[in-house]
Amino acid sequence: MRSIVEAYLSDVHAALRDERGGAVADYIPELAAVPDDDFAIALCTTDGALYAVGDADVPFTIQSISKPFTYALALADHGVAAVDAKVGVEPSGDAFNEISLEPDTGRPRNPMINAGAITTASLVAGGDDEERFARVRALYSACAGRTLELDEAVFGSELESGHRNRAIGYMLRTVGILEDDPEPIVARYFRQCALRLDVRDLARMAATLAAAGISPTTGERVLPEAVVERTLGVMTTCGMYDAAGDWVTAVGLPAKSGVGGGILAVLPGQLGIAIFSPRLDAHGNSVRGVAACQRLAREMELHML
Ligand code: DON
Repeated sequence: MRSIVEAYLSDVHAALRDERGGAVADYIPELAAVPDDDFAIALCTTDGALYAVGDADVPFTIQSISKPFTYALALADHGVAAVDAKVGVEPSGDAFNEISLEPDTGRPRNPMINAGAITTASLVAGGDDEERFARVRALYSACAGRTLELDEAVFGSELESGHRNRAIGYMLRTVGILEDDPEPIVARYFRQCALRLDVRDLARMAATLAAAGISPTTGERVLPEAVVERTLGVMTTCGMYDAAGDWVTAVGLPAKSGVGGGILAVLPGQLGIAIFSPRLDAHGNSVRGVAACQRLAREMELHML
């Protein structure tokens, strides 16, 4: 028997099913090839109850939703002061792929834009690139409750076409924010973005943040509480890029979007929300994802403020 929660989510899904606005990301050629009409909604509570409707089995790449998790890993590895020395926490007001470095320090404005995320990728501890990537993947997997696989085609496609991110990497090297060769760092950032999951995995990741760093699936602590608190703060002000103001006023939850079509939102202490719908607005945020979160926040009274 379907639960009341799933029946409600089905209503939200049905109400937004015919929304045709937006377009899939095409600056990564492999993403332009994904079917554009899939649509799934999932909720996961901090005690692990999971509800999903729609195309919940369709995999997609995590893309920028990886950014808060890698930021959290860098904070756990080095502490707040060392990470703050390399990346700020102020909204940039610019698009996610702008350079957006502070003029005096050279720091990227925040870890949710590409420049900041390439920087936090450089801060992940480990002996070599393989080991560092393995730690990133292990963290995301621990939050999702299962081992996430790499989408080699999407990774290869961004590695070939991602000249703008490469340019950002070299700019960061020039100002001394990156201390090593930018090429492997940017490549590792592309790899983290190409980890593949579905909307249930994403909801479990959201719920791990809602539970202040404890996986609702395994009960294991995967991130320190103080790290999650800071990460959620930055997601609130910067997670939806130059749409962050609209988002905070309408939805009022820390969140992160990705150009694969995912959105993750967190109600601290209670639940994680995940949406998947690949057509994006001009900010790179899922159109139906934003609409669904607005509706859930209004009808379930999730707005924190
Ligand atoms: O770096 C990029 O451009 C992509 N790998 C990720 C960007 C992204 O997901 C922006 N978010 N909505």
